[in-house]
Amino acid sequence: MTLLNKNTESEFAAERAFVKSYLDKVPGKCAVSDDKTDELKKKISMLLHERNAVLVAHYYTDALLQSLAEETGGFVADSLEMARFGNQSEAQTIVVAGVKFMGETAKILNPEKTILMPTLEATCSLDIGCPADTFASFCDAHPDHEVVVYANTSAEVKARADWVVTSAIALDVVEHLIAEGKSVIWAPDKHLGNYIQKKTGAENMLIWDGACIVHEEFKTRALDTMRHLYPDAAILAHPESPMAILEQADVVGSTTQIIKAACERPEKTFIVATDAGIFYKMQQLAPDKEFILAPTAGEGATCRSCAQCPWMGMNTLESLYDSLLNGSNEIHVDPSLCEKAMVPLQRMLDFRQSQQDA
Ligand code: 13P
Ligand code: SF4
Repeated sequence: MTLLNKNTESEFAAERAFVKSYLDKVPGKCAVSDDKTDELKKKISMLLHERNAVLVAHYYTDALLQSLAEETGGFVADSLEMARFGNQSEAQTIVVAGVKFMGETAKILNPEKTILMPTLEATCSLDIGCPADTFASFCDAHPDHEVVVYANTSAEVKARADWVVTSAIALDVVEHLIAEGKSVIWAPDKHLGNYIQKKTGAENMLIWDGACIVHEEFKTRALDTMRHLYPDAAILAHPESPMAILEQADVVGSTTQIIKAACERPEKTFIVATDAGIFYKMQQLAPDKEFILAPTAGEGATCRSCAQCPWMGMNTLESLYDSLLNGSNEIHVDPSLCEKAMVPLQRMLDFRQSQQDA
């Protein structure tokens, strides 16, 4: 079905129905509960309590995990707020439902605590695309540059950095460094790097060639077509999306920032360019609004990406239960590495705090 050149109202209506039927098949849009699920959730709640543990989940994880985190006094957030919450929580064990770099960040910030994850297999294409040794050589070759790395990296890469940032704060930190006259190495997400460079006008910014396999799938021309089908909709995009997507967006921001925009903006319809797991929180906080996934298939394509991170999808209720029951999938980071990586991470948290205090 082509999305181009639709002229009449009925043709537009047919297109909308097509988009909607596709969206209805996107998993993770709402929490569904059956008896088995409820039983498992109860067992997990009891274990969390018994083990003095708290569940922290990312917005891209399954809706069941997000709702469980909320029901048990845990937290659902973007990667920056997950780190901040883990850092402030009284719980002795933090269970991180997300991807490995989020578990490692929790460990680096809380070396004395036990950090468990439903799976240790859940990684990230950005992390994979930035091997620590190659990155260190690159930094060594440019010693006059401030090294700013995205949180979606290994503990080793963080340990080599001057700053760790997440998408919520990356632009502010680089703006701050540019204002101080610094040259910057940015790694690993090239789209976020290019976006920051464009926004700040930074001339001396070296950008690593990494990308997120989920956000890279959003298609520019199909988004332009969708925009014409929904002329009253606002476009919300995560900055890991390609520049041509970001140029069409009304709001570019971290997962928390685009959820906030969906709640606060006057539009009733939003086209969303990020992982589909985010729809759970968006629909929960803005039930009267309509959220449409940005297109992941170009003109005439016979297949489309599901816009769901395969690694986030590895987190399930079952694997969470096993991890808590057996204390398995514990995150370990070498203490000397923790010490080094803590410095740029703490710098980010202090920077955020100073913004909030100002
Ligand atoms: P946020 O920091 O916006 O939560 O993003 C993390 C991430 O992995 C996006 O793909
Ligand atoms: Fe990494 Fe992309 Fe998955 Fe986020 S959505 S964890 S950036 S692969």
